[in-house]
Amino acid sequence: MTTLFIVLAAYLIGSIPFGYLLARFWKGIDIRQYGSGNIGATNVWRTLGKGPGMLVLLLDMLKGVSAVLLAKQLENADLTLLAAALAVMMGHSWPVWLGFKGGKIIATGAGAMLAVAPAPLLMSLLVFVLTLGLSRYVSLSSILGAVSLPFWIFAFNYNAKYLFFAIMVAAFAVFKHWPNIKRLVTGTEFKIGGKKS
Ligand code: G3P
Repeated sequence: MTTLFIVLAAYLIGSIPFGYLLARFWKGIDIRQYGSGNIGATNVWRTLGKGPGMLVLLLDMLKGVSAVLLAKQLENADLTLLAAALAVMMGHSWPVWLGFKGGKIIATGAGAMLAVAPAPLLMSLLVFVLTLGLSRYVSLSSILGAVSLPFWIFAFNYNAKYLFFAIMVAAFAVFKHWPNIKRLVTGTEFKIGGKKS
């Protein structure tokens, strides 16, 4: 019963669409009509600037951290933490409030992973930063950061449950970035700075 409550609470925390709400009530626009159409921090930054983008990044990360910390408080077991982490990402990605069309799990997933497995998350973050520095594509950096996560989980000797979970997260991130992958292949993906390549 507690696990079910944790998973439901994590989903609902994840489903708060901070990017959408901030753009709607602060700037009066529907962020889904701009840039990549995503409600995440990257598109808010691209469309509304650094301040709103940073705020959405922090709030989306906070969703991930708080869902896992709630799980830790109520039932500190590996499977419950991982279920909460997955549920908060699913809430962010498929929010009931926006017709199940949400974000791409990177900021919320990073927040959740920070609470679940901090050292592997920091290594994935390093991959993200290096890729971003070299390519200037946030999407490519997100994909490579997420795809490298199972490797770091393995390298830091986490158990098989964590490895399986990390593989799911990597697959989830690739799936959510499919439109970005298509744009990367066709050379039409957004680069940081707001221009298309
Ligand atoms: O975290 C999302 C990022 O990887 C890509 O965002 O807006 O360029 O699709 P966007």
